[in-house]
Amino acid sequence: VIDVRKLYAQTDCFTYDPGFTSTGSCESKITYIDGEEGILMHRGYSIEELAEKSDFMEVCYLLLHGELPNGSEKENFERSITYHTMLHEQMMNFFRGFRRDSHPMAIMVGVVGAMSAFYHDSTDISDPHQRMVASHRLIAKMPTIAANAYKYSVGQPFVYPRNNLNYAENFLQMTFSVPAEDYVVNPVLARAMDRIFILHADHEQNASTSTVRIAGSSGANPFACIAAGIASLWGPAHGGANEAVLKMLQEIGHKDRIPEFIERAKNKDDPFRLMGFGHRVYKNYDPRAAVMRTSCHEVLAELGVEDPLLELAMELEKLALSDPYFAEKKLFPNVDFYSGIILKAMNFPTSMFTVLFALARTVGWVAQWKEMIEDPNQKISRPRQLYTGHTARSYTELKDR
Ligand code: ACO
Repeated sequence: VIDVRKLYAQTDCFTYDPGFTSTGSCESKITYIDGEEGILMHRGYSIEELAEKSDFMEVCYLLLHGELPNGSEKENFERSITYHTMLHEQMMNFFRGFRRDSHPMAIMVGVVGAMSAFYHDSTDISDPHQRMVASHRLIAKMPTIAANAYKYSVGQPFVYPRNNLNYAENFLQMTFSVPAEDYVVNPVLARAMDRIFILHADHEQNASTSTVRIAGSSGANPFACIAAGIASLWGPAHGGANEAVLKMLQEIGHKDRIPEFIERAKNKDDPFRLMGFGHRVYKNYDPRAAVMRTSCHEVLAELGVEDPLLELAMELEKLALSDPYFAEKKLFPNVDFYSGIILKAMNFPTSMFTVLFALARTVGWVAQWKEMIEDPNQKISRPRQLYTGHTARSYTELKDR
C-alpha cells in the first residue's frame, strides 16, 4: 500500500495555502496594491490621480504598454480601438440563439469565447503582432458585446458603434439609443461611465485575473482565456457583488432596519454578509470606493435623482464603520458598494452591473495575459494538492459489492 502523503514528502517543497492567501503566482509590473494603507497604483500612478486627470483610453494604453501615451500614440491607439468596435455580422446572429431572458453575463461568456471562431488571424499567441491585435479587438468589441446583450434582453434592435464618439459615449449610445429617437449623450454621464471603467480596469491577481493567467498558461487562445475570466468574475464574492449590493439595499429598504442587518452579518450562524464590505487585500478603505462615492453624488445631482438607496448606503456605511466587529476585522466598503447606485441612476438594469465590470476589466485581463506570455519564466500553472482520500486498495468486482 502506497501512502501518497509520503510521496509529497519525498519531492520538493510543498505549501498548503487554500485560497492562495499568501502564495505569489507571478511577477508583475502592472498594478501595485498596499491593502493596509488603501493604496492602488497602475504602473506607479495612483488610482485617484488617474480617475481625476486621465481617461479610460489612456489607462488602457498605460496598462498595456507601461507608459502614458504621448499625443500621437494616444491618437493611434484610439484609432485602432475605434477601427475594431464592429462585430462580425455572423456574431450578431449568435446573440439571437440565446433565450431573451438569459443573464447578460451568460451571453457575454458565450460570445467572447466564440470570438476565436471568428478572428483566426489573432489567435497565434507566439506572434507579438497577433497578441496586440487580439488585445485591441477584445477592448474594442467588449462595449458592443455588452450593449448587444442588453438590447437583446429588452427586445430592441442592436445599435451599431459610432466612431465619432469616444469609448464611453459610444457604449452609452449603443446601449440606450433607440431608432425612434435622437439620443444625445450627456457629457456628465459619459465622464462618470469613463471613470467607472478606469476604477475597474485592473486589480492585480484577483480570482478572475488569476483565472485568465491560468487558462493562458496552457497556451489557450486569448479569447478563450478572457471568457474564462468573465466566468470567474460572475460570482457574488467577486464581480457579482455590485448586483448583490443593490439587492441587499433594496431588501433592507429603510434606515431603521440597518441595525438588524448589521447584527445578521455579525452572526456566524447566519450566512448573510454585508455585500460591498470586506476585501481579500484591502484592510483599509478601498481607494476606488472613495472615488466612486464622489462620482455617485455627481451623477445623482446631474440627473436630479434623490435616491433613498444612496442615503441608506451612506447610513449603512456609517453604522458599520462604527461597529467594533467591522473595525476589528478591518471590513471597509469596497468598490462595489457605490457602483450599483450610480449604474441604477443611469438606468442600467442590475443584471448589467457585472457585465460593465467585465467590460472595464478586459484591459487588465489582456495586459496581465500579455505580460504572462512575454515572461521568459512562464510555465503552465499547475497547483499542488493535499490528498486526503483513500490510500491504494484493490478493485471489488460488481457482484461482490
Ligand atoms: N460581512 C460580514 N462579515 C464579513 C464580511 C462581510 N461582508 N466579509 C468578511 N467578513 C468576516 C468573515 O465572516 C470572517 O470572519 P471570521 O474571521 O470570524 O471567520 C472575516 O471577516 C474574514 O472574512 P473572509 O471571508 O475570510 O475574507 P476573505 O478575504 O476570504 O473574503 C470577501 C473577502 C470575499 C470579499 C468577503 O469580505 C466578502 O464576502 N464580502 C462581501 C462580498 C463583496 O463585497 N465582494 C466584493 C469584493 S471586491 C471585488 O471583487 C471587486
